Amino acid sequence: MNSPFVMIIFGATGDLMQNKLLPALFSLFSQKKLPEEFHIIGFSRRELSDNEFTNLFIGLSSKEGWGDFAKHLQYQRGSFEDVNGYSELIEKLNTFDKKLGACITRFFYLATPPQHYESILNFLQKTKLSEGCGQRSSKWTRIIVEKPFGKDLETAIALDKKLSEIFEEKQIFRVDHYLGKETVQNILAFRFANGIFDPVWNKQYLDHVQITFAEKKGIEGRGNFFDGVGILRDVGQNHLMQLVASVAMEQPKSFTKEDLRDERAKVIKALKYIEEKDVNNQVVRGQYKGYLSEKNIPPNSNTETFAAIKFFVNTPRFQNVPFYVRAGKKMPRNTVEISLIFLQTCHILFKEYGCPEIGNVLTIKIQPDEGISIRMIAKKPGIKLALEPVTMDFTYQEAFMTKGVEAYEKVLLDIFAGDQMLFNRSDELSSSWEFITKILNGWKDNESGIMNYEQGTWGPQEANALIEKDGRKWL
Ligand code: BG6
Repeated sequence: MNSPFVMIIFGATGDLMQNKLLPALFSLFSQKKLPEEFHIIGFSRRELSDNEFTNLFIGLSSKEGWGDFAKHLQYQRGSFEDVNGYSELIEKLNTFDKKLGACITRFFYLATPPQHYESILNFLQKTKLSEGCGQRSSKWTRIIVEKPFGKDLETAIALDKKLSEIFEEKQIFRVDHYLGKETVQNILAFRFANGIFDPVWNKQYLDHVQITFAEKKGIEGRGNFFDGVGILRDVGQNHLMQLVASVAMEQPKSFTKEDLRDERAKVIKALKYIEEKDVNNQVVRGQYKGYLSEKNIPPNSNTETFAAIKFFVNTPRFQNVPFYVRAGKKMPRNTVEISLIFLQTCHILFKEYGCPEIGNVLTIKIQPDEGISIRMIAKKPGIKLALEPVTMDFTYQEAFMTKGVEAYEKVLLDIFAGDQMLFNRSDELSSSWEFITKILNGWKDNESGIMNYEQGTWGPQEANALIEKDGRKWL
């Protein structure tokens, strides 16, 4: 990336900026992956000077190179709902253009809670900030939108309509940072660059698929954001859908933006909707005990911090193979992984020597301990014949001595390069919203359907029942 740029981050005093965006930008700067001329403008409501803004990132300030990086940071105070901040922003941006003697590329990053998107977009349009450099040409601007894109299907469509009224599709970057994770990108390499897996990656050999997205942390002071969202919208509609798409998609014609997005979209479109009447049977929602006493949570909140879902992907490859997916906060450990559980085919020959209940399992560890493991059955050493499961592991750390590029760094580099391959296309999003909205509607009239669970457990008992009634178990 050599061209100068300015990135305006709305919601710059928030959690995303603190934990992901600014650390990623600083890391890119330290690796000399940013151009000489760049500016980062934090836009938020709080009254702060440039210096006070910079001091918010206390965790980074002791690191080498921070002083040089911090010179590129500025702050713009403004309410998202009032034109004044935007007008002042225009003056700032104009000075950069003047100094450079050319139009500097403008990236507008929406890192606020989603309820502010509409207002920010309206002001970008009204003030013509969206057009960039006063040339009536929008080619010098890009808009970056963080998830959740809307609250349900209807609001997602409205948001998309608004975006496309102001920007061309090639300027719109809908971020799902899970697509930027090495391990998620590796799913395709693993599946399609190794001929031995494809023939068994289907309903003929698979019993079911499990995905677990577990976090030890709770909502960590993000009550304002989280309570209006819940885990299903926060990680289900986006990160989990993308994991499902990577595991279930067909081989794309090429590694180009459209071919890859086409295949992802096909899987999401093929999800068998859970009709409202079946929601209770196929979906479990939970809330950890103590959630109601967290900061900014209404005392009667029904927001879920855990969800487990059973569903099907209606493609020839996966027809009738159940997917069991669960996501939760305050779980016993941090783990995001996908497991393909193969039909137990332990030969009759071995039945009396103890065929384990579960046979081959292929687990893709998205994080931590990024890697892949395959569970096999082996003869236990000894005079007598006895069988026992063993695992064969590949870990990024051991094989490559690195975990790879941090997801937000990849996301930012792709934005700078204008590469949309790892960003959501609007049809992928509307299909996933359609699926999720049915579940949300099923919950609407069933306020009592939310189960409490103890912190540090794998969610409510009902989540076990969801899979156990089919004669299976969470791994
Ligand atoms: C974010 C969610 O998108 O992803 C958070 O809003 C969640 O609630 C986070 O904790 C998980 O991302 P990662 O990269 O830390 O696994």
